[in-house]
Amino acid sequence: MNKSGKTKNLILICSGSISAFKAATLTSLATKNNWNVQCISSEGSRHFIGDATLEGLSGNSVLSDMFEPGRALHHISLIDWAHLILIYPASANCIARLRAGLADNLTGALFLANNFRKPWWISPAMNSNMLEHPAIIKALKELEKWGCRILPSGKGHLACGTIGYGRLLEPEEVFVLMGSEEF
Ligand SMILES: Cc1cc2nc3c(=O)[nH]c(=O)nc-3n(C[C@H](O)[C@H](O)[C@H](O)COP(=O)(O)O)c2cc1C
Repeated sequence: MNKSGKTKNLILICSGSISAFKAATLTSLATKNNWNVQCISSEGSRHFIGDATLEGLSGNSVLSDMFEPGRALHHISLIDWAHLILIYPASANCIARLRAGLADNLTGALFLANNFRKPWWISPAMNSNMLEHPAIIKALKELEKWGCRILPSGKGHLACGTIGYGRLLEPEEVFVLMGSEEF
């Protein structure tokens, strides 16, 4: 439930990480607890989780193509609709692209169109070497300075077989954070 007790609108952007399956749990949790969830899948994300799963759990067809007929101005109207935009998981590529201000995909266009009017949360998930790369450290710092909320990534077993930082925050933990804010 949201802190306000009212139904709220979440844009959940799923990008290309092996942890993308966790977006299904978060979508389910949010949908069952008073959130309308509009999922967006990046090109990379569709290698890891099917749009059918996110559509089935959210009850809304997944968006991915900025140029889809009939939805050409969604990157503007969706921001007006949303109370929270969350990238879960956020891949290194997605993070670097946001910092560069690129708008050649739906996520990038939404990010610029939002221009920090609505809360924009980023939940990184990647191998620890990627997370510790200066390109990503700098990008996350800059995005935070601009007004994004960067969720912590946990330490633990990573898909690459090592133990370190870069694990996606668990869906239940993100959901608790969502419930503790007044949107
Ligand atoms: C098996 C596999 C797992 C991957 N896991 C991650 C990951 O957890 N985090 C990450 O940043 N990139 C990961 N990548 C690389 C991204 O999928 C790749 O950079 C992709 O282009 C990102 O797409 P996006 O821009 O749609 O997020 C992985 C690649 C493969 C093949």
